[in-house]
Amino acid sequence: MKRCSISAPFDPITQEELAWILDYRNANGIREVVLVPLETGTASLADRRKMLKMAAAPYRHLSVSDRPLENGITVPEELQEGERIVREGRYDKSARGIRKELAERGTYFETSLDALCKPRRAAHSRSVAGVCREIAQVHGMDPEQAWKAGILHDITKAWSDETGKRMLEVYDPSRLELDEKTWHSFTAPIFLKTVMGIQDRKILQAIRTHTLGDGCTDLDYLLYIADKIEPTRGYDAAYETQLAKEDLKAAFDLVFKEAEEYRERRNNG
Ligand SMILES: [Fe+2]
Ligand SMILES: [Fe+2]
Repeated sequence: MKRCSISAPFDPITQEELAWILDYRNANGIREVVLVPLETGTASLADRRKMLKMAAAPYRHLSVSDRPLENGITVPEELQEGERIVREGRYDKSARGIRKELAERGTYFETSLDALCKPRRAAHSRSVAGVCREIAQVHGMDPEQAWKAGILHDITKAWSDETGKRMLEVYDPSRLELDEKTWHSFTAPIFLKTVMGIQDRKILQAIRTHTLGDGCTDLDYLLYIADKIEPTRGYDAAYETQLAKEDLKAAFDLVFKEAEEYRERRNNG
């Protein structure tokens, strides 16, 4: 057989699908395999096409097209299931050539958030991300970087203490001495780095410091503030929001102090 097309949503293409496609080609003596993304998917057709091209780039006998050939086949459904798992945060299951792209562009950050967090937490994270983006713009910071920090900051919050403990024992055991409530700010950067492939150190640091407030960059301050003042929390934070737009450090100091006072009141009463 000279050429054959293989279709799937490729939303996105997984490493397992890629391996299956290469095996299929070898087993059937096919000269060229044309990869065809189906019409519908979570990511746009243009994005999925671009990712397919990146995944296929190292292979001389793979190409990408929008039109299936007459003898075209579809990737088996059970393998397509793997695409959903990637969209739910397991970027390590995506085709090797696209992992960096997924992590840098933030493709599937929101589907991952919805899969890994309860609806209220996901709404909070979206709200934090919105506040981060808005205030970052005012200060000439990178609004997309700020948005990503907000979306991802509580990504491991739904984990049980047992799961968090298992990860910290391996990667960051000194944190086990801290209150369990803070653990998610240490497990999230590890998960984001090792599973989702996020390399942006500023984002990882902002997330790591968002519960203790021990950060020192503008992004650290911004995420800490946004986490406390975002509208779904239901406080009147008009003053803090305005101050954050004028002076991030001053707003951080104020919000930090307010959080401390709140904790003291709760502990005493
Ligand atoms: Fe948090
Ligand atoms: Fe939060």
